[in-house]
Amino acid sequence: MSETRHGHFEAALLDHARAAFPALASPWALFDNAGGSVPLAGVIERVRHYMSAHAVQLGAGYELSVRATSEVAAGHRAAELLLGAEPGEVALGSSTTINLKTLARALRPLFGPGDEVIITDLDHESNIGPWRELAADGVRVLEWGYSAATGALDASDLDALLSSRTRLVCFTHCSNVVGSIHDTAAIIRRVHEAGALACVDGVAVAPHRLVDVKALDADFYAVSLYKVYGPHLGMLYGRRDCLLRAKSQNHFFFGEDELPCKLEPGGPAHELAASLPAIPEYLLGLESRLPGGGNGTDRERLARAFGAIAAHEEALAAPLLEWLGSRAGVRVIGEPGADRAGRVPTIAFTVDGRDSAAIPAALDSGKVAIRFGHFYARRAIERMGLLERNGIVRVSMAHYNTPAEVDRLIAALDLALGR
Ligand SMILES: Cc1ncc(COP(=O)(O)O)c(C=O)c1O
Repeated sequence: MSETRHGHFEAALLDHARAAFPALASPWALFDNAGGSVPLAGVIERVRHYMSAHAVQLGAGYELSVRATSEVAAGHRAAELLLGAEPGEVALGSSTTINLKTLARALRPLFGPGDEVIITDLDHESNIGPWRELAADGVRVLEWGYSAATGALDASDLDALLSSRTRLVCFTHCSNVVGSIHDTAAIIRRVHEAGALACVDGVAVAPHRLVDVKALDADFYAVSLYKVYGPHLGMLYGRRDCLLRAKSQNHFFFGEDELPCKLEPGGPAHELAASLPAIPEYLLGLESRLPGGGNGTDRERLARAFGAIAAHEEALAAPLLEWLGSRAGVRVIGEPGADRAGRVPTIAFTVDGRDSAAIPAALDSGKVAIRFGHFYARRAIERMGLLERNGIVRVSMAHYNTPAEVDRLIAALDLALGR
């Protein structure tokens, strides 16, 4: 199988991909994937297997417990593989929201009055709120505003905020509202030059690109697995030395060098952690169907799988963006083009004179699922002046969407918007 010249998966590869997601058998065309992707059959099967074969507690010496322990450990290894992390560098928690709250508590003792933390007004609230709360300890919290012209963060605006007092910069790799990808490696370089650490929200990019925390040189990096075809869990990467400096949030008898469990109070849901190997397994299976597939390290093969995914998603997004751009009264917020260098296929728009809530509702009868709102990036939507009209309309695609579904979406929007 190969990609076509146009970037779409060939039909057989797309069929193979779709067959791996049982929920896609429904008649709905799902374009709310930035909210959450549907789970892989392999994930569902592993949860079922774990719970039916040996859902006993971890860490005991009897055989069932040994097997359970090793399956949960395999989940950690899969999480590390997905992010390009070293063993022990990825904590699993119930969500990115919880993981970042835990991280903020773990870093809090490292900051003192007069220290500065930079947050943005573009991020999902999970990477803003916990850091704003540090102000109660005398930490100065500075806001890096997104550019009104592009809907994205402008690195030069960060320079004006960085100083010798900066301890941490928290920003998003990719906006979950407008889909713009930031040059995260370059931003982290600037942050490190200022002597600070970077905490990156990678939730919106991870379903579309292979994350490489080492190439980015991130200090902390968060991803939600239920948006990457997995179960409802979050992965929090911390570079080993950063995790060692953070204060344990687990019981007092856990050592500061016990990685990553010092940042996993209560532990992850075992059956969900045990399901994670199904995600790289699926992606490697996809890669093996590409020309020249099946060769190289798992990371190289995952990179090829995501390369094909990005090309297919760009080809899916292009006709929608073109159509939206051609409609009078429709305003696309963010990157107007589909070029995968600048965006993921998460597309935000408003329609003049229409409340954003009205548009998705008009698509329900055609079983096309899209969504409106602020998507918990409430500060960004407020700054756009769009809160009162129910935010933006968001179409968010995944690699298992088809060109025919995009045609259906455009036809349904055409009807909903009228002449
Ligand atoms: C960009 C981004 N960051 C963080 C989150 C929060 O993730 P979780 O639901 O795992 O707390 C979301 C969820 O929508 C998101 O889109």
